[in-house]
Amino acid sequence: MADIIKVEHLSYVYNPGLPTAVTALDDVSFTVEEGDFVGIIGATGSGKSTLITHMNGLNKPTSGKIYIDGRDLWADPEKIRDFRFLTGLVFQYPEYQLFEETCYKDIAFGPKNMGLDEAEVDRRVHEAADFVGLDPALLERSPFELSGGQKRRVAVAGVMAMKPRILVLDEPAAGLDPEGRDDILSEVKEYHKKTGTTVLLVSHSMEDIAKYANRVLVMSNKKIAMYDTVEKVFARAPELLGLGLSVPQVTKIFLKLREMGVDYLYLNPIFEAHSNHRYNTADYLNVDPLLGTNEDFETLCKEAAKYGIGIVLDGVFSHTGSDSRYFNREGRYGEGGAYRDPNSPYRSWYDFDPKHEGGYRSWWGFETLPEVNEETPSFVEFITGEGGVIDTWLRRGAAGFRLDVADELPDDFIEKIRAAVKRGRINPLSPLPLAPKPQGAI
Ligand SMILES: Nc1ncnc2c1ncn2[C@@H]1O[C@H](COP(=O)(O)OP(=O)(O)OP(=O)(O)O)[C@@H](O)[C@H]1O
Ligand SMILES: [Mg+2]
Repeated sequence: MADIIKVEHLSYVYNPGLPTAVTALDDVSFTVEEGDFVGIIGATGSGKSTLITHMNGLNKPTSGKIYIDGRDLWADPEKIRDFRFLTGLVFQYPEYQLFEETCYKDIAFGPKNMGLDEAEVDRRVHEAADFVGLDPALLERSPFELSGGQKRRVAVAGVMAMKPRILVLDEPAAGLDPEGRDDILSEVKEYHKKTGTTVLLVSHSMEDIAKYANRVLVMSNKKIAMYDTVEKVFARAPELLGLGLSVPQVTKIFLKLREMGVDYLYLNPIFEAHSNHRYNTADYLNVDPLLGTNEDFETLCKEAAKYGIGIVLDGVFSHTGSDSRYFNREGRYGEGGAYRDPNSPYRSWYDFDPKHEGGYRSWWGFETLPEVNEETPSFVEFITGEGGVIDTWLRRGAAGFRLDVADELPDDFIEKIRAAVKRGRINPLSPLPLAPKPQGAI
């Protein structure tokens, strides 16, 4: 793809020639490909805001060149206005720039200035309001009657409504509560995905950058210290820390574990279960909501793999919970399940016989832990078959399984689990090849 931004040897001095002269950018060069989402980080005063105000001609380089979409921004200063529409700039605390009587008029201000007709302006206002999740009912209200987060949305929508090729945001989430941050940044991400607009996002939050950007530009002392993919930049955590920057929490933890020589992390059961014990599996295919989501697990595995650390799961396959989608004694999962429905597809997994207390065989007599028949073909297939439980977790990035009460499992079943893990290991989605096989794990 073509470079939408090309910056060559850009330097900028505030108050040049005066005793108060400050060099804010010193020989900065980089390019951005169209469609990229670039996170810009750097200590306070490192030059981030100065850099981005150059992207639409608000500041004129003291020396150096900026090309937007192949055109030299300052080739003809008379035409600088064109670039104001090509690059949309959202300043920090943009709500302070709202000034119209209604939100509608504020969002419409940019498109109107572009000389668009009323129908097109109207279409763009609604589309932009929709992108930032602004209730259309608020459009006729005064921006000053809105909450901080809503005002911010109006300001961002006003820039989006100009449909810039490049959207530049200076700390758009600053000062918002965690939920507000996530909302506004996810909306920007969604906008980026849907429109293909190039986005530059300045942020102090490494978590946000890791989550939303695909490239990171690190500013340090008026220069570019690093510019690479998110993975490659955060892998240089010690250098980032040296620049006074932090790294995402998860990166910090894995760095420490790596330093301690950890190759594998073994997690106690993480599957959905309705007790702290967690060996009473309720659903083999989902992470318990108390611990996170399946996506969180994938992120964890991906991050761990970067440090050559594998994530090993606990496989509890000799019994399930009675309170599970398979057995469903407690009725949490509707009317189906082996306990309630003799025709349930899970019925054959368990031994129903009045000779057992409670009417079914359970693990060491605990009625909350009905035992499964590990020879039942449908159970074996569910756990070890193509697309089964083992496959699913390996595809999500697990490196292997530690088997609970392996001594109680039939050899044949263990062999099938081993085969499933081996098959999964050659799955290209499994990060396992990065880490050596640990002693004793399957
Ligand atoms: N209007 C100005 N006049 C004079 N110097 C300025 C001006 N704005 C910024 N500077 C100086 O330029 C340098 C870069 O500032 P800039 O605002 O670009 O940093 P930043 O990385 O955006 O910082 P922050 O994270 O605090 O927003 C700093 O030394 C700053 O003091
Ligand atoms: Mg700044």
